[in-house]
Amino acid sequence: MTQSSTLPPCLLPQARLSELVDALVEQGWFVGEDFIDMPLCAELHQELTAMAARDELDAAGIGRGQAHTLRRDIRGDAIRWLDRKSQAQRRYLDAMAALQKELNLALFLGLFEYEAHFARYPPQAFYQRHLDSFHGRANRVISTVSYLNPDWPSDAGGEMVIFAADDPQREMVRVRPTAGTFACFLSETIPHEVLPTRLPRASIAGWFRRNASLGGLIDPAH
Ligand code: OGA
Ligand code: MN
Repeated sequence: MTQSSTLPPCLLPQARLSELVDALVEQGWFVGEDFIDMPLCAELHQELTAMAARDELDAAGIGRGQAHTLRRDIRGDAIRWLDRKSQAQRRYLDAMAALQKELNLALFLGLFEYEAHFARYPPQAFYQRHLDSFHGRANRVISTVSYLNPDWPSDAGGEMVIFAADDPQREMVRVRPTAGTFACFLSETIPHEVLPTRLPRASIAGWFRRNASLGGLIDPAH
């Protein structure tokens, strides 16, 4: 067997990885359209839609561990953590593992783990402006979002707004949640929000983590 037939196809555009790394360094965030393999987005979208139809998603909360609470006034999505049980999930997580390697090589971030969940925002749902990680309890280092929606009319809302790290009032970009679009940003410093959506909105949110171990205990993933 030749080597190329044994390797999984790379699902991220190699040529654009340096663009991604440069943007993270210079501005703390990156947004790329047509970044994630389209057939893979379609499979993941189908998987999420089927899980929603079978009522297998959980209302998303805020905070970790004991502090975890449901706050529909803050976020209204329903989620399910990826568990590698489908081929599409494995391909997606393998692509993120490849990205993790690139980020570690280029930025010496010491990323050691990736966690991700499917998210479905029903009509009217939103997620208020927030940070994904807090200084001092820093284990989420880089946030990722992949959008799965095959068509997204311009009046459907549901954009993710990224704000400036040094001025949370200043909008940097509005990201339409169209299939293929990939966003990533520094979890501790980049405020962002999801505007109210008019259509069911499908995405995968994920986080590259650093080991926040204390006394030999590894911080649980979720
Ligand atoms: C999150 C989040 C953004 C999005 O889940 O923390 O900010 O566009 N998601 O889905
Ligand atoms: Mn977030």
